[in-house]
Amino acid sequence: MKYKNGHFYIEKVSASKIAKKYSTPTYVYSFEKIVNNIKKFKTNFKKINPIICFSVKSNANLDILKIIKTHNIGADVVSKGEMMMALKAGIDVKKIVFSGVGKTSNEIDYAIKKNILLINAESEDEIINIEKIARKNKKKVSIGIRLNPDIDARTINKISTGKKENKFGVDINTFKKIIRSYKNSKFLEFNCLSVHIGSQITSHQPYRIMLNVIQKCLNECNHKFRFIDLGGGMGIQYTKNDNLLNYKKYSSMIQKFLKKNKVKIIFEPGRSIIGNTAIILTKVTYIKKSGRKIFIILDTAMNDFIRPALYGSIHRILPYKISKNKIIKKHEFVGPICETTDKFLETSSFQKLTNGDLMIICDVGAYGMVLSSNYNLRPASPEILVKGLKTIVIKKRQKITDLI
Ligand code: LLP
Repeated sequence: MKYKNGHFYIEKVSASKIAKKYSTPTYVYSFEKIVNNIKKFKTNFKKINPIICFSVKSNANLDILKIIKTHNIGADVVSKGEMMMALKAGIDVKKIVFSGVGKTSNEIDYAIKKNILLINAESEDEIINIEKIARKNKKKVSIGIRLNPDIDARTINKISTGKKENKFGVDINTFKKIIRSYKNSKFLEFNCLSVHIGSQITSHQPYRIMLNVIQKCLNECNHKFRFIDLGGGMGIQYTKNDNLLNYKKYSSMIQKFLKKNKVKIIFEPGRSIIGNTAIILTKVTYIKKSGRKIFIILDTAMNDFIRPALYGSIHRILPYKISKNKIIKKHEFVGPICETTDKFLETSSFQKLTNGDLMIICDVGAYGMVLSSNYNLRPASPEILVKGLKTIVIKKRQKITDLI
């Protein structure tokens, strides 16, 4: 995705061609970028040879999952819906892990019947329920227990998951107690210790502490696990100010860990695979000058993409066509929804814009479409995949009549 002669292209197709064909707002993905990210991720952890389970919560589009599947990647799912979608995409059941603090009996039963790789349990209560359902199914179920390592992932507070005040996983003492109490269960096989400390992590330091806590837990528990599931969380560069995770350091820390522990590593990446593979194409509906500010009112809104409104996250906004005519004044890019938080970005200057101009919101591939809604009764945007010169509709635009 780059500018050619001052115009924005997704692979070999100009953004304006896509907007003309499919209208706006529209999610647009680059096939090449997805494949490159997968290859990069595999290269970064080559020496570890992990099982990679793509975190479906970050992007659940069937065609995207099919691309991921062709690279021998599994799925990390958190609901029956995600499990069914992963299976529909052809993902191998023996590469599916099921996480989440509130799996219902119906979801657990489904996972047991499908014989997935692991159900990563997050409480003693859940273990009791899984054992009950396993007994009913007369099956020995492969279980992971999620450890809450009580560490700060130094990411946005709202997406941190590894502190003791977060609802996720169990503390070391409970972890050990569960292993002790259910060691001889005929229906549970404790194969995995899992963790996930947060998302958009850009420093290897929290991972270092995480590995130390895991080691401590393993030393104290005296139980042989087949897998250590390290979750996902690897951050991406949304702006130049974001640091990039040092994969070399993270990988070498894990290699050291593997020298002491003969286990298979599982990763559950979402954002690092899909985050920077998509943009939203949007048009300027109106421009409103108000005091010292210029409001740029777009035809996309927080219902299409909620990350800025929900987490205050920053996503670059670019013009389709570059011009040199710069206006030094505060610009606020907003949507049409009747909420003050329906705001994408503030900048201190921008090139001169006019109504109808085509714009690009960057890096929306992860936690974009999956978090969209019909708020204000706005129909969902379509998803388009670009592959060289080809554009493929991977999700149709929802019709207003479907909502009424
Ligand atoms: N595994 C587990 C158990 C998770 O809870 C998550 C994300 C992942 C893996 C994938 O993490 P990733 O590699 O994508 O960082 N909506 C928020 C992010 C929420 C993350 C939830 N868990 C956002 O837009 O930033």
